[in-house]
Amino acid sequence: MIKGEDTFKKIIAHCKEYGFIFPSSEIYDGMSAVYDYGQNGAELKNNIKEYWWKSMVQYHENIVGLDSAIFMHPTVWKASGHVDAFNDPLIDNKDSKKRYRADVLIEDHLAKLEEKIEKEVEKASKRFGDSFDEKMFRETNPRVLANREKIQSVTRRFVSALEENRLADIKTLIEELEIACPVSGSRNWTDARQFNLMFSTQMGSVSEDASQVYLRPETAQGIFVNYLNVQKTGRMKLPFGIAQIGKAFRNEIVARQFIFRMREFEQMEMQFFVRPGQEKEWYDYWKKERMRWHLALGFPAGKFRFHDHDKLAHYANAAADIEFEFPFGFKELEGIHSRTDYDLMAHQKFSGKKLQYFDPETNESYVPYVVETSIGLDRMFLAIVSQAYTEEKLEDGSERVVMRIPPALAPVKVAVLPLIKKDGMPEKGREIFDQLKYDFNCHYEEKDAIGRRYRRQDAIGTPYCITIDHETLENGTVTIRERDSMAQDRIPAEKIPDVVRQRISLRPAGNVQV
Ligand code: GAP
Repeated sequence: MIKGEDTFKKIIAHCKEYGFIFPSSEIYDGMSAVYDYGQNGAELKNNIKEYWWKSMVQYHENIVGLDSAIFMHPTVWKASGHVDAFNDPLIDNKDSKKRYRADVLIEDHLAKLEEKIEKEVEKASKRFGDSFDEKMFRETNPRVLANREKIQSVTRRFVSALEENRLADIKTLIEELEIACPVSGSRNWTDARQFNLMFSTQMGSVSEDASQVYLRPETAQGIFVNYLNVQKTGRMKLPFGIAQIGKAFRNEIVARQFIFRMREFEQMEMQFFVRPGQEKEWYDYWKKERMRWHLALGFPAGKFRFHDHDKLAHYANAAADIEFEFPFGFKELEGIHSRTDYDLMAHQKFSGKKLQYFDPETNESYVPYVVETSIGLDRMFLAIVSQAYTEEKLEDGSERVVMRIPPALAPVKVAVLPLIKKDGMPEKGREIFDQLKYDFNCHYEEKDAIGRRYRRQDAIGTPYCITIDHETLENGTVTIRERDSMAQDRIPAEKIPDVVRQRISLRPAGNVQV
């Protein structure tokens, strides 16, 4: 993966040009932060879902799946805290009329101070060379210490203002820090105010009967309200998990960075129900397990890191993000949260229905604790395409763009390509394609020179190209070309399914260990 803004722009353009992602309603000029997945994007997305679903549901005896509705009873969102607390603090610049998240303005300012510290360290390291003692420098350099002190004091004020909902103090902080609008350059701000991120609509055909409902902002609540249904009908014993993949909606104010922050997106969430007191152990287990899942795709370990939360959400007693190094820096990809019994207790209270578990081992009834793993499908998609996008200069001086998508996730697994469009090669190619299509998503292509066809397949990440040539007609062998190395082997045509299956398998002996 190549880093930087330019590369990110190239990735976005590539995603559009090769049918991965289109702006939504593009012929009407698109909609901000809403995207459609094209022919290759839909396949990649389905494969990511399958990878997650299999490793969660199919490979764990004690995790089952669920598909709950997007619309839920409005009281669900009262109970979960989303009606009262799912807010972002907003502030407008009076000159540019642009709206910002007040917390993001302050976080960006803090990030700039961090950058200043890193620049000081870098400069000193160059100046002192081998004799440079970085630890000592960070602990004693007056400029580093002054900036560190500033970061700590701003963070303290910022976190307490946010926690206690003191919006006037947030505005004061923005003014004191002399934060300017990036568009107008002015410091002419409105008051900060809270903005709820849930989309709402009316349910019911006649306006008098209509009641306000919400588009769910997370899939997790569909799992909580079905916890007892699944536990009883599945005769589940603690610890056990319920997994779900589905759409979520948030009226994000700062919607930017392509599919990183969308207004309509998809989540893959799993709630793991445990005996109270055992949540820490399971939280640590799922942190490790989820990191293993990411690394199993073969991406470098240095692209991932944990970020443990200092400031916890009202429902959590521990929380961490798995961050990925996107072209615009390390950002949250997945969250692992120890949510205590907050959600089930709240639903018990608001619904008046008991949501307890009878533990046959201890002869006690209690409300289970929950450890959640929550990953954005679209963010995972962005992580994969960012990592996969590679520009290469070849030995003959030509260039290619290759999407090094892990083979198990690639939209098209095999392309069947007759070398030329005559001498019976297309017929043989069709015969091979017809045999493969039941097992793999395949492409058949006979138009253009073979080199151009290889490039097109490289650009969408097809791991294997099968070429039918004169030898195929003589002895029934074909060449199989591997995308990354471009190496070609000759194999009997009847062996193609076994060879491809073995190379794209999710089994531990294959490319990916889950
Ligand atoms: N149930 C917990 C929950 O929803 P979250 O941190 O708000 O927690 C979980 O969201 C994951 O969903 C994030 O780590 C991210 O991958 C994804 N996500 C959240 N908001 C998103 C958005 N606006 N666009 C795309 N993905 C988003």
